[in-house]
Amino acid sequence: MWVDLTESNPTRAGFAYPPDLLRAMADPRALSYEPYPFGMAAARAAVAADCLRRGATVDPAQVVLTASTSEAYAWLFKLLCDPDDRVLVPRPSYPLFEHLTRLEAVYAEPYELEYHGRWRIDFDSLARAAAAGARAILVVSPNNPTGSYVTRRELARLSDICQRSGLALIVDEVFADYPLDAPEDRVTDVALATEVLAFTLGGLSKTAGLPQLKLGWIVAGGPAARRDEALRSLELIADSYLSVSTPVQVAAGELLARGGAVREQIHARVRLNLEALRRAAAAFRACEVLTCEGGWYAVVRVPAHRTEDELVLELLERERILVHPGYFFDFPREAYVVVSMLLPPEAFADATGRMLRLASD
Ligand SMILES: Cc1ncc(COP(=O)(O)O)c(C=O)c1O
Repeated sequence: MWVDLTESNPTRAGFAYPPDLLRAMADPRALSYEPYPFGMAAARAAVAADCLRRGATVDPAQVVLTASTSEAYAWLFKLLCDPDDRVLVPRPSYPLFEHLTRLEAVYAEPYELEYHGRWRIDFDSLARAAAAGARAILVVSPNNPTGSYVTRRELARLSDICQRSGLALIVDEVFADYPLDAPEDRVTDVALATEVLAFTLGGLSKTAGLPQLKLGWIVAGGPAARRDEALRSLELIADSYLSVSTPVQVAAGELLARGGAVREQIHARVRLNLEALRRAAAAFRACEVLTCEGGWYAVVRVPAHRTEDELVLELLERERILVHPGYFFDFPREAYVVVSMLLPPEAFADATGRMLRLASD
């Protein structure tokens, strides 16, 4: 049997979704079409109300609905950039940035995250990247795959750079509801916590384990005048696509409320799997599970006497286990593997145990 330790689709990981979870999408109100560029008022209010779980008070007027986080990025690049402009992206991070930027005719310029017991932003590299000119700084918090949250101190420095260089801040918080070893001074709902033009991204895909419903959102924040000017321009972009389906908007309130049960299952499993992975790795001195502050992924440093490619292929051939090599996420050096922690605990413990043994061999 093959084991896929890259599985990041929660609908394939054996969680118990209530069978009638989608019933609100059949509401007869979804039979009529009344398009609004930023989404239906009730759905925007439901997203704003959901932010209260994290203590964030959002005005529904700040909420823009999108079909996905990927679409949110595309709209923000259209809003903030001209062709050939640059946006600053963390490294290591989410490999899709390369495509999401190029598809909008902009460039992703990396700044580094460095591991010193936790992953931190390397502000020297950020300053170097910003010096050549850019339109926005992208932050993923917690980051995929390093799991690092942005802290209050980091946010103050990011805001300062944005202020001085006229950059906007885009913070992808799709995993914000999955804290693990999270720092006390982490910040979520960043668009509400800074004095620069900022956008927080979220979506049902991760917060309720429902990627198939295609509902994401942007929360716009920062100085009121700049924020409202940005929202006016964003309205034309959103109105040109009107991409969020009516049934998902009609159901948004119920999906967000009942999706909490799915989130809790995912969170409990990820916690359990991370603990099991740590315990297992303790028996292999050559392997280290890096600090994981949040999200669904774990990073394991493994001996570099094989290349990451060799290790990944050997795991496939000898153990029938699929993992991501670190270079997939642009880790600064070899050798790392990245595993998703979504699999059922027994399968996860068995596969990661075999992976650690082979990697240490
Ligand atoms: C950091 C990050 N942002 C965004 C997404 C995609 O979210 P969506 O399904 O809303 O496009 C992912 C998916 O894995 C992700 O890891």
